[in-house]
Amino acid sequence: MGKVIKSVKNGPNLVVVDGQTKIALCRCGQSSKKPMCDGTHHKVNFQAEEHEIKLDD
Ligand code: FES
Repeated sequence: MGKVIKSVKNGPNLVVVDGQTKIALCRCGQSSKKPMCDGTHHKVNFQAEEHEIKLDD
């Protein structure tokens, strides 16, 4: 399965290793626990497209 950076629609960047989410990094800039996502993106109505980058095969 490998390593993937998954940008969630309207949410954080997830670091996913072998199918398991290891960390959720804030992408809205409003988290009080940066660099971690604390869910504030819901309150601020953060809007962004989903995206995925595979780091290895
Ligand atoms: S993306 Fe979740 S708090 Fe910023």
